[in-house]
Parts: sequence; structure tokens; C-alpha cells
Amino acid sequence: MSIRVLVLNGPNLNRLGTREPSVYGTGTLKDIENDLSILGQELAINIDFFQSSQEGLLVDRIHQAVDDDVDGFLVNLGAYTHTSIALRDAFLSAARPFVEVHISNVYRRESFRHTSLISDIAAGVLIGFGPFGYQMGLRGLVLKIRSAGDSVKRDLPGIPSR
Ligand code: DQA
Repeated sequence: MSIRVLVLNGPNLNRLGTREPSVYGTGTLKDIENDLSILGQELAINIDFFQSSQEGLLVDRIHQAVDDDVDGFLVNLGAYTHTSIALRDAFLSAARPFVEVHISNVYRRESFRHTSLISDIAAGVLIGFGPFGYQMGLRGLVLKIRSAGDSVKRDLPGIPSR
């Protein structure tokens, strides 16, 4: 069965293209999603996309993805990265790998952006590579999911580990 990934984008990311272009560039969220869809075909995975500027809707979407048996998440939570215990708890409860992406290099910006409430529980973090970070993040996430599957197989009795 093919891998299923949910790509989650948080507040204001629907405004990419017109939002602070000197920080985030001129590409839109639709451009990012189209590029991820093409990469998804290359990787032979299924991808769903969701964007909301509302914290609770993001939490609900994570729960739904777990009920749908998603394999992992690629996420840019925008400003909620720095504030949301509720989203951290949702990922802890999901117990599936996720990769955190930020378009801008948050460490070159205001100090309140230097704290992430999810980095320490993420499988990986991509920061400051512009929209390309999503593609690197998706490749990394799929690699992690596939290698976790391999280690499960290796652990099965009767299957030699090397
Ligand atoms: C962001 C960085 C956040 O600090 C900011 O609130 C965003 C976008 C990024 O992709 O660089 O909305 O997550």
C-alpha cells in the first residue's frame, strides 16, 4: 500500500505570493502544492493538502489524518510554531513522523521566532531554503517512513537482518 502524507500549512500561508515577498518570495501556496504533487508522483506516494489560519481546525485535521491512517506529516505551522501547545499535543498524540518546514530563516529574524514548540519532536526540520524546503522535507519524510518500514521487516522473525 502506498505511503500517505498530509501537508499542513498554518496561518497566513494562504497569502504567499503577496505576503511580505522580500521574506517569503513571490510563489504561491498553490505553486508549492503543485510542485509537491509532482514530487509525490515521482515518489509514488499519496498526498493530501490542508491549510487553515485556525488553530483548532489544524488540530482537528491532524486527528482526522490519524483516523485515516496517514503515515506522516509535512508541516509549516507559521506563527503557531512558536505558540501552540495544542498543536504540539496533537502531534504527540498522532505518534507519526513529521517534518517541520519554514520558508524563511527564522534564526535571522525576531527572537520570538527562534522558539519552536515542535522541533524537538519532529523527525527533521528544514529552515530558510524558501519553498524548496517543502520538497527536501517531503523527500526526507518519505525516506524516514520507508526506512522505519524496513526496520519493522528486519525485526520480523525469520527475516535475516542483513
Ligand atoms: C514561517 C515563519 C514563522 O515565524 C511565520 O510566522 C510564518 C512563516 C516560515 O515559513 O518562514 O508564518 O513559518
